[in-house]
Amino acid sequence: MPAVRPGVRGAVITGWGSALPPKTLTNHDLEQFLDTTDEWIAERTGIRERHVGGTTAGLSIESGRAALAMSGLDPSEIDALVLATTTPDRTVPATAPSVQLELGLSCGAFDVNAACSGWVYGLINAHGLIAMGAEKILVIGTDSLSRITDWEDRNTAILFADGSGAVVLEAVDGPGQLLGWDLDADGSSERLLYADIGGYLKMDGKEVFRRAVRIMADSANKSLAHAGIGVDDLALVVPHQANTRIISAAMRRLGIPMERASVILDRTGNTSAASIPLALADALDRGRVSNGDLILFVGFGAGMTAASAVVRWTTDAAEHHPRRDRDDER
Ligand code: ACO
Repeated sequence: MPAVRPGVRGAVITGWGSALPPKTLTNHDLEQFLDTTDEWIAERTGIRERHVGGTTAGLSIESGRAALAMSGLDPSEIDALVLATTTPDRTVPATAPSVQLELGLSCGAFDVNAACSGWVYGLINAHGLIAMGAEKILVIGTDSLSRITDWEDRNTAILFADGSGAVVLEAVDGPGQLLGWDLDADGSSERLLYADIGGYLKMDGKEVFRRAVRIMADSANKSLAHAGIGVDDLALVVPHQANTRIISAAMRRLGIPMERASVILDRTGNTSAASIPLALADALDRGRVSNGDLILFVGFGAGMTAASAVVRWTTDAAEHHPRRDRDDER
């Protein structure tokens, strides 16, 4: 993958939002109908509870509305809606147009399916649209995996859940936050994790685990190299929330202390395309990120896909909005 070319028009994140269905399922709840225990799930995955319910459109509308409100933009100003999901509400049409309608947007709207890497795939695609002249883009990552989970299969039912995270991306004059990125896929691994149309998720957990650690570290290293920075420069890593043991093994492989990762999966389980924007929103809401901090997003998923991006966080949005400042002065 190429590095970000000098002189290419950049973008900054000016709003974010999250949505989780109100219904929670704890490990103890799962013990009631699966041959498993809270201790086993917590020790092997780090997950203690997860949220289930809702639709991909419904969750996307909630997180998208929150991100729009934070950005202060009118829905009519959005130039494109990119919805990363591997669980669309229907086969045809995509889910993005339903979200577009409910949010009052009047712009192109499309789904991106790259499983758990999907939101980073969407973010990079959105940067491409901005380089081509778009001004403001809503990038949402949503999955409702509970609908394609076999609740009698203890290998998968303990992991998967539902949620949504969104950001508003706005074009800036000059370089933006994105410093380096990488998108990967290996179709030869697709039978390790898949769901046929109308079927449930099937997974070779051990092999997914083994490959996940390697491909996360490989993708992250490519993004870091493109950005021209080292691991010691990173203030925060926002990894895909699949399993704390996968995250800690990948962090070890990269040589980054675990304390620098944003980890929320104890409360959310694996929400696929939603997991990185949810973990980002959590870190931002907790004030873990300061102006100028370098953040690494890194995900992997069915496909098997991998995706990563390095961004320099900027909190001073006005600095990037000379046009909006001028409007304010009138
Ligand atoms: N409760 C209790 N025991 C269990 C459970 C369970 N839920 N599941 C399996 N076991 C048993 C197994 O039967 C096995 O027993 P045995 O030793 O008597 O044969 C033992 O526990 C160990 O099983 P393993 O499969 O070896 O357990 P492992 O440590 O590999 O953990 C897990 C399994 C959690 C699935 C792990 O492999 C994993 O997280 N893999 C990655 C999965 C993943 O991230 N998938 C999502 C990818 S992203 C996307 O695109 C959606």
